[in-house]
Amino acid sequence: MSATVTVGDTTVACAPEQTVLDALLRSGVWMPNSSNQGTCGTCKIRVRSGAVDHRTSPEATLPATERDAGFALACQATPCGDTVVERPRTDDGRDRDATHALRDLVGTVTEVRDIAHDTRRMLLTLDTPLEFSAGQYVELTVPGTGVRRQYSLANTPGEAKLLELHVRRRPGGVASDRWAFGTVAVGDRVDVTGPFGDFTFDAESTGPMVLLAGGTGLAPMKSIVRQALSLDPRREIVLYHGVRTAEDLYDSGFFRELEAQHPGFRFVACLSRESGGDREGYAPDAFVEDVASAKEYTGYICGSEAFVDSAVKACKRRRMSPRRIRREKFTPAT
Ligand code: FES
Repeated sequence: MSATVTVGDTTVACAPEQTVLDALLRSGVWMPNSSNQGTCGTCKIRVRSGAVDHRTSPEATLPATERDAGFALACQATPCGDTVVERPRTDDGRDRDATHALRDLVGTVTEVRDIAHDTRRMLLTLDTPLEFSAGQYVELTVPGTGVRRQYSLANTPGEAKLLELHVRRRPGGVASDRWAFGTVAVGDRVDVTGPFGDFTFDAESTGPMVLLAGGTGLAPMKSIVRQALSLDPRREIVLYHGVRTAEDLYDSGFFRELEAQHPGFRFVACLSRESGGDREGYAPDAFVEDVASAKEYTGYICGSEAFVDSAVKACKRRRMSPRRIRREKFTPAT
């Protein structure tokens, strides 16, 4: 049975089996979202009238007490008839009216290259351009499997037909190990859905920026940094890339070139398990050592859950306003 979902003064149609989040995003109606897997809680809505089927919403993210109180996960729940929902509050207090509409596209793999000992860069060319904001991600359907995996975009919105993805190998993984490090070939046709996520560059912000990236959390930062410098080539920006050893580093040459072109941009490679790079130790610690007060800064953080938690603490310790801290946690594939 088809249904409608209403949020604020906007009503959209929702097909059978379509989630609340999917229906809203495909209509260009913004709803906070991050993991799109039921694991982060970012899309937790309150159902004001009507009812939803919670389907596979995990108890860890949506406990029974919250279901009973009328909460639901928009990325998992499907409406049972016409339903009115309320948007959740966001971490940074931002509210937006519109987003780039979610779309299904097809791309062709045009390049696969090893860039670190367990990381590959994959380039795809889309048949039709994708509109997105710097920092967002797409879902790829691994050819021949139906398995979907999420990858942040390292290209800029100006390169709308190109997708640059950084893929870290996960031993035994269907997407990374068996496909991206196994059977993938130039010319593969791949289904792509996007864009997703609220980890986006704030084009209206001014003042200095700090970006803290753990591992392949560098991908969205590559997009954000270039977008920021295209708007203000002299903006004060520092990017910390945290990895374990020198063989995990990649794209350092690219960022060194940006340093040479932009006097306000600085790149700091941090190695936590050996000496070398620019700094020895954890990236958030290097930031705390370097910056006495981050009151005027806007922060962007992306990486594993542990990395993001530690980097958020570092930003708060240096008195960055929580409203100015944007973050993206990589969640393990479900
Ligand atoms: S739980 Fe729905 S976007 Fe994370």
